[in-house]
Amino acid sequence: MSTALRGRIVGFRDDPFLAAPRDCLQHEPDGLVHIENGLIVSVGPYAEIVPTLPAGTQIVCYPNAIICAGFVDAHVHYPQLQMVGAPGEQLLGWLDRYVFPTEAQFADPDHARRVARRFLRELLRAGTTTAAVYCTVHPQSVDAFFAESVRLGTRMIAGKVLMDRNVPDAIRDTAKTGHAESLALIRRWHGKARQSYAVTPRFAPSCSPEQLAAAADLLGQTDGLFLQTHLAENQAEIAWVARLFPEARSYLDVYDRAGLVGARSIFGHGIHLDEQDFCICHRAGAALAHCPTSNLFLGSGNFRLFEARDPRRPVHVALGSDVGAGTSLSSLVTLNEAYKVAQAVGAGTLDAIRGFWLATLGGARALSLDDRIGRVAPGYEADLVVLDPDSSPLLSFRTGFCDSVEELLFALMTLGDDRAIRATYVNGRCVHDRDAEAP
Ligand code: GUN
Ligand code: ZN
Repeated sequence: MSTALRGRIVGFRDDPFLAAPRDCLQHEPDGLVHIENGLIVSVGPYAEIVPTLPAGTQIVCYPNAIICAGFVDAHVHYPQLQMVGAPGEQLLGWLDRYVFPTEAQFADPDHARRVARRFLRELLRAGTTTAAVYCTVHPQSVDAFFAESVRLGTRMIAGKVLMDRNVPDAIRDTAKTGHAESLALIRRWHGKARQSYAVTPRFAPSCSPEQLAAAADLLGQTDGLFLQTHLAENQAEIAWVARLFPEARSYLDVYDRAGLVGARSIFGHGIHLDEQDFCICHRAGAALAHCPTSNLFLGSGNFRLFEARDPRRPVHVALGSDVGAGTSLSSLVTLNEAYKVAQAVGAGTLDAIRGFWLATLGGARALSLDDRIGRVAPGYEADLVVLDPDSSPLLSFRTGFCDSVEELLFALMTLGDDRAIRATYVNGRCVHDRDAEAP
């Protein structure tokens, strides 16, 4: 089937942390994206592309809207959707009081299926088409998630959480059972349709050295697996890691010694890292997920984005919502908070070009997926989002005064939220049409 989307197209040709941001932006004020069989066939000015379309191509027009690559969320917990906004604690107290009792409910596969469906629907309503997702310790929570993702056709990364100590009995595995269950899940889901498996040790305090070794063993057995975990999020957590692993130089070193720092490793947070840690991540090609709404909500600290992305040794960075500690699945809201955190740190300003790059191509690059997603370009998978600058009265009024596409994008990232997602396309198929949904 042949479809074409008409609108203002925004994309990127390069990394705006390493080159002048203006030079990295691609902008087609009246553009057309031609899609066939889930892939982008051609992109360009409407007047140039329209004569090349096969007869019968359905043209969908989005006047005044921006079409860009679907958003990438590199760190999110689907089981925590039901407890977003749980107040009054920092990380460790919040895990004990809210997260662990919530995650215990995912022993019930019906509950897991219900939440997985709702989560993926919410993700698409927010314009996110790829995410790296934590399930719970229960294999059935992973089955529920991937089954729904396969049904929708989304490109997702997910895995069973490994945790064999310092968590309640009901949600504790062992190094051995965690390994066996992960292996079975890898065989069932990794590479199926657009799904990839992430070996997911929750964080160093909940994993014995044997379990970290088992995680490394899993990574060595199958090509293309990801590794996701938490890193240097909170000071009390870091002090605990230092007591549990006295031989390690730093929190990152715990994972490095276990063989878990590689090109497909995604570390959530990475707030309290030192220069040596950044260098290790750079050399390994590992990615940090910047989770500003979560870090602000839990009072964890300010991620030093511009230091991480220092052009002398840039570390891959993607955005993470980190729901349920994060308070929104919207990458626009995440960017709004990322801007404020960058201002508070004072080492650089998160302009709209860098911001949207992080949410799209930068996120894809951090996840080693930039050969398939993150661009509006021929041969790329047609995962696209349509942004509506008239989605709220204030946004519409404000954008009426914008003189440039950068200003328009910046207004979207400061005032926009899920209402600004006019439509979301996955594999060339419209999976969210805001205006077709009942209020
Ligand atoms: N560290 C270990 N588990 C978690 C979690 O579920 N959320 C966050 N934000 N940090 C964690
Ligand atoms: Zn997290």
